This record gives sequence, C-alpha cells and structure tokens, in this order.
Amino acid sequence: MTQLIQIDDLSFLHSDSWKKNRTRYCEELEAGNILFFPKCPLPFPEDELQFLLKQRQTGSTNRKNIAYKPQSDTITNFVQSSKEQGQRLHEIMRNYSQRVSGFLKELLPPYASSWRLDYASFRPFEEKGRQLRTRARNDLLHVDAFPSRPMHGSRILRFFTNINPTESRHWITTSPFHDLAAQFGGSSVPFPKGIENTFVTKALTQLKCSARTLGLPLVFRSPYDVFMLNLHNFLKESSSFQTTCPKQHWDFPPHSCWMVYTDLVSHAATAGQYALEQTLIIPKEGMIDPEKAPLSTLEKLSQRQMIQPLYQK
Ligand SMILES: [Fe+2]
Repeated sequence: MTQLIQIDDLSFLHSDSWKKNRTRYCEELEAGNILFFPKCPLPFPEDELQFLLKQRQTGSTNRKNIAYKPQSDTITNFVQSSKEQGQRLHEIMRNYSQRVSGFLKELLPPYASSWRLDYASFRPFEEKGRQLRTRARNDLLHVDAFPSRPMHGSRILRFFTNINPTESRHWITTSPFHDLAAQFGGSSVPFPKGIENTFVTKALTQLKCSARTLGLPLVFRSPYDVFMLNLHNFLKESSSFQTTCPKQHWDFPPHSCWMVYTDLVSHAATAGQYALEQTLIIPKEGMIDPEKAPLSTLEKLSQRQMIQPLYQK
C-alpha cells in the first residue's frame, strides 16, 4: 500500500550526502508513495494567497479548474471581473508554476533534464458534494488518464498545495496499480490490440505525414492510452469497487504540499476547497526504474506491446 514520506526540513539539499545520492525521492515516487511537506516548501507571498482565496468562479460547480499553460503562458477557464484581476491571476499562476518547477529541479534532479512542464491548475471548488458527471468526479477512486492528450507511456506526476487557510484536503487511495491491473485488466477492462496489419499501419502513417504537412495535429491514442482511460472510467463507474476496495485515508492540512504519480496511485479527493496543482510529464525513459511504469506492468500482464511508433507524435 501507499506510504507517506514526510519531508520536514529541506536543509539536506545542500549536504554532501545528497549530492552523492540524488535519486531517493524519485525512487519513492516510482514505488507509489506520496511525498508530503507539512509546510509549503515554496515561497508563497501572503498577498498572492489572499488574492486566490477571493476568486469566485460564478455559475455551477461543473466549471473546470482554472488552468495555466506554461508552454504558451496562457490562462484559461477563469471568470474575469476586470482586466487587472485577469492579469494578476495570470501572474500568480505563472509564479506558482515557476516556483514549483524550480523547487522540483532541486528535489528531483534526475527528472529535470527530461520532464515536460504541463498545466498548473487552481481548484477553487469544494470537492465534497460537488455535482459532476460520474467520469469527471474527483471524489471517486481512479488513476489519472487524459482523454484528449495521450501519454504514450509517459508518466503523470503532480505536485499539490492546499491553500485553504483552515480546512484540510482529504484523499483516499487504494491498492497498488499492479493489483488493480491484474484484477481488472483483460476482463472488466480489456487489453486493446495494437494495429498489426502492415497495410493499415502504412496507410495511417501516410495520413499522419500528410496531416503534419498541412499543419494539422493528428495524434493517435495508443493501446496504452485506451487502456488507461478505460480503467479510469471503469473504476469510477463501478460502485462495488468504490464501496468494497481497501482504503487508506489521508489528510493534507492547510499550507501543506504533497506529490504523487497520479497515473500509478489510485486516488480520490473527497473533501477540500482551494488547492493548487502543477503537473509534470516524465518520459518513461527518464525514470530511475522504467520497469515500475504502468506501461511496463501492463505489457507484462497482457503480453502485448502497448506503444508503437505510429501512435507517437
Ligand atoms: Fe485524479
């Protein structure tokens, strides 16, 4: 089961022993553990905190989280009350993204040369009782998979910050990925077949080349991505799994931070309001032990290749 690895003091980052063995926390994450920081390890100015806590997303709670995209330096899904408010929110989200990536370069140096900084998000809604369609609910146990952005075996690593001044954020987690994949893979969630027909492969490769020439993005979901999304959906939609699976409960107090591979550790946020999050995409080859990746687990269980060059960009 998942272990909480608590990090109280960061002075070790400047020690000689750390310089000799800088893989420790990458290994903990790859083992399916949660890194937990009781005190936020980033600078977080009080005026930025107060500004975020005052943001109000109007309309129903099925609105998406506020998202910051570092690659394009843009912010989406927010309610703009004035130009100044929009600019300030953008600036604070950019600051958060940059501070998290700066900190993680120190804590997880083996990853820093290969990771891709993905979206940051601000989650201003109360998770408890939030009215969402089943597949979008955060309070049901699941592993993360992006419906519109295939990962092709790369990993989803997320850093969270609870900025609620008084309330903890509550999570539950369940059995290790291997156990879930062995229990449901091939039966409740079939292992998808790759394209084995060379004629079809050639035709799709040509189609992809033509689309690229025309500047049209054409990305195929690999069997890995199909399986991960189907597993995500199956777990959320199975009331017997949600009710009977073993559960671990976690409490993340105000101003604490935590991080975890959310494609590996099945999780649910059952209560809490006002959290920030930064996602990092780690290529499988960038891991300390790629054999611990869900892709490796699934290929062993299914005896199938779940990634092919055709599917990749
Ligand atoms: Fe999730």
